[in-house]
Amino acid sequence: MNIKEMLQMVDHWVFAETDQHLDDLQKTIIEEISQGKTYKQIADLYGYHENYVGDESRKLFKILSEKLGENINKHNFFWTFERVTDHSQGFNVINANLNLCHNHQTSNNNNSNYHKQKSNFKDLTLAPQIFKFYNRETELKNLNNYIFNQNIKLISVLGLSGIGKTYLVKRFVDLNLDNFEVIIWKSLKYPKSLDLLVNDLLKISNVETYHGTSLQKNETYLQKSLDDKLKQLFDLFTQKKCLIIFDNIETIFIKEQFAGQYQTKFKDYQDLFTMITENDHQSNLILISQESCAEMQNLDQDLTIVKCLELSGLNDVDILTNLGLKDEDSWLKLVKLYQGNPLYLKKYISPLIKNIFAGKVTDFLQENTLFLTEDMKSHLREIFDRLSLIEKQIVTELSKFDQPISRENLRQNLDLSFMDLVMGLQSLKQRYLLTKIEEETVLFSLSPILREYVKKS
Ligand SMILES: Nc1ncnc2c1ncn2[C@@H]1O[C@H](COP(=O)(O)OP(=O)(O)O)[C@@H](O)[C@H]1O
Ligand SMILES: [Mg+2]
Repeated sequence: MNIKEMLQMVDHWVFAETDQHLDDLQKTIIEEISQGKTYKQIADLYGYHENYVGDESRKLFKILSEKLGENINKHNFFWTFERVTDHSQGFNVINANLNLCHNHQTSNNNNSNYHKQKSNFKDLTLAPQIFKFYNRETELKNLNNYIFNQNIKLISVLGLSGIGKTYLVKRFVDLNLDNFEVIIWKSLKYPKSLDLLVNDLLKISNVETYHGTSLQKNETYLQKSLDDKLKQLFDLFTQKKCLIIFDNIETIFIKEQFAGQYQTKFKDYQDLFTMITENDHQSNLILISQESCAEMQNLDQDLTIVKCLELSGLNDVDILTNLGLKDEDSWLKLVKLYQGNPLYLKKYISPLIKNIFAGKVTDFLQENTLFLTEDMKSHLREIFDRLSLIEKQIVTELSKFDQPISRENLRQNLDLSFMDLVMGLQSLKQRYLLTKIEEETVLFSLSPILREYVKKS
């Protein structure tokens, strides 16, 4: 809930009691108190006498006390507000202010559990809400182990688009809400400079250092160099157990080049990732990406500084439950046909079977085709368009074969230097589009869904 929504709610209560809406001064009082200002600071800022602001505030709290049937004052207002409106997640910075403000004021509260929970800060506004979550027990266990037992500071969750990366990490977050003091979820779908992103993260650290003094005083970081801001951020990472999630991190890499190359304007993210692994602190950063880069790989197996969790498809039929499908015996075949990709299975293929085949999975499978819906095609087009020219050539060649083929075979059929071919194969691996089969000679095959797309387009 943001300040606007909060004002609307208070206005609603005041109107119910007095038949009058909040006036400008009352709105200002709530807005400024939420920012941590004292009556004196509000009075100075808006040219009133301190006593007048105090009197007006007390009148407002009296109205609210009558409306809510409990004694409300400046110190318990936000606490009470939050309890009454009962919102439990998605706090933005202002809400965080409120949290800390009322925590500060209610530090004698005997209910230590409630108090403990309230001292946490969570910004999960950009994370999906999860209603049904299936499988992935091993992956959840691994994440737990990396973070709580091995203290791995940089973890990457990698895999094809739609395979369930975001869902998995959000599930992990939901299960561990109380195990971190700060949790911030950032989506980089529309990427921003590291400087702006660090500003966002520091707003939290601002709040953390807040003790009733003007917030503006703490916002001096806005004028600082990125170096200094990072120092401030790492101070927070040291003082508090933070979990930071950057989703869709592939957007900071260059399109149509080999995987995992940072765009010039985002190159400093690389420094942040290195700092996260090398500096001494108690926090964790999870990167979610469709393509991996050097910083995500643990090159030295003995040194567990970073870990990557590479997701493959689901191999269970649970994902198909409650989607209106029949013929349960055939579900596993369907899951395998679409390589356990939950996005394709749940969002695109199941509705198609339900609507056109009356839910009969067997009838659909009898057609014996790997059917791609228009949505799937446009999803696959996005993936294909990100590839470098060399990768596109390799993928096009691979799509001609139903069987895995060797590097030598590819080399004979493609007009590519040895170096280009090797780099292209490596890059496709980094995007999880290629399967490598280690036999006497190493063989490569394409994800069948991508092969179907390339063959037909
Ligand atoms: N474990 C799961 N249980 C239930 N549904 C899932 C699961 N994983 C993924 N999904 C479904 O698949 C969709 C795509 O998953 P998502 O995590 O967004 O993929 P990614 O982040 O890898 O692109 C989700 O919107 C959700 O509907
Ligand atoms: Mg995602």
